[in-house]
Amino acid sequence: MTEVLAVKTIKADIVESIQRNVSRIGTRNPMVGDDGPDFEYLYPEDYFWTDSFWTGQLWLAYGLTGDESLKNSARTRNAHLETILNTPLWIDHDLGFLFSLSVVADYKLTGCEKAKSLGLRAADALRNRFNYCGNYIQAWNASSDDPEKMSMAMGKIIIDCMQNLGLMLWAYKETGIESYREVALAQAETSAQYLVREDYSTYHTFDFDPKTGKPVGGKTHQGFADESCWSRGHSWAVHGFAKLAETTGDMKYAELSAKLADYVIENITPDGVPVWDYRLPLDEVQYKDTSAGAVTAAGLFILANVLIKAGQVSRGTRYHDFALKMLKGLRDEYDLTGMSDAQGLLRGAAQFVKEGQRENKPHLIQGMLPYGDYYYFEAVLLACGHTDFFWE
Ligand code: GLY
Repeated sequence: MTEVLAVKTIKADIVESIQRNVSRIGTRNPMVGDDGPDFEYLYPEDYFWTDSFWTGQLWLAYGLTGDESLKNSARTRNAHLETILNTPLWIDHDLGFLFSLSVVADYKLTGCEKAKSLGLRAADALRNRFNYCGNYIQAWNASSDDPEKMSMAMGKIIIDCMQNLGLMLWAYKETGIESYREVALAQAETSAQYLVREDYSTYHTFDFDPKTGKPVGGKTHQGFADESCWSRGHSWAVHGFAKLAETTGDMKYAELSAKLADYVIENITPDGVPVWDYRLPLDEVQYKDTSAGAVTAAGLFILANVLIKAGQVSRGTRYHDFALKMLKGLRDEYDLTGMSDAQGLLRGAAQFVKEGQRENKPHLIQGMLPYGDYYYFEAVLLACGHTDFFWE
């Protein structure tokens, strides 16, 4: 009972914080923020994959309150999203994050046909990234001045892509065109086969030979090491496979999400907030990643709902209770909603620790991240019994 009351309080605090920040953030899209004392966001000059996480929060808050200023602010981003679709070098696999939390949300909440057609264009562009020989969606792009990066990019999948599949499952639901679904499920199969290790830890990325489709090996980009387990990457998988189970009804995805969740439960620190890599050596500074905590908590709630609906009540309740423990850890030590000047909801998030250390950029090591904020809100709403989200 106390827990139910607590999550409702967090929900109210989050909505208040978002309403306070509408005019402060304006038409900008948060990218990464400092860890205090200012708690201000930095914003990209042109575009970044993070451009819709604030928009997603605006749409969630609009769905709860009906406050038109939230809807209007969210909608101002649609022109920018159209520009992304018209700029080939900006199109990568993160179209799922970008368009699910913006135009798909708009269409779901308001029925806006223009938003729907932008969402379908984005789903087409994502489906076009599929390599039929290797059975995978190419994650990143070559840059115009780096040929080495071109061949690396053409053969690389990354675990984050599990969050991008919902856009194609939504397009399948709206159009009945099978290829959206086939590509989404093929990418999920390839991820399960190559990104998940036998002990249910995960690789961040996996390389294929782009000409033959043959597997080459696992690598990290943002994790500690190739054979470590980057906690946010792992969280994308826990959440992504749980969501896939919910969308498709196929319990094999729930079983995989549960194994990945068990890895978290076995390897997380007692406060329920992940260190940025689950295999970080103890002689390294044990920085937290609250964004990984928020994504994992949301994923565990989804997994719990799927299991409980399938009649596995005690198993589902275990994941639900662990998600509540993770939320408590975030709320107790990292929640910023009580700070009226903070532009974000959570501090203590780790965007890219090694790059931050290499380039002396402290905000990449510990700070605020708009996806940490978005998934914290999603997790709190799931804890309150909310079921309407934008992922498919
Ligand atoms: N998708 C990139 C990240 O999680 O940092």
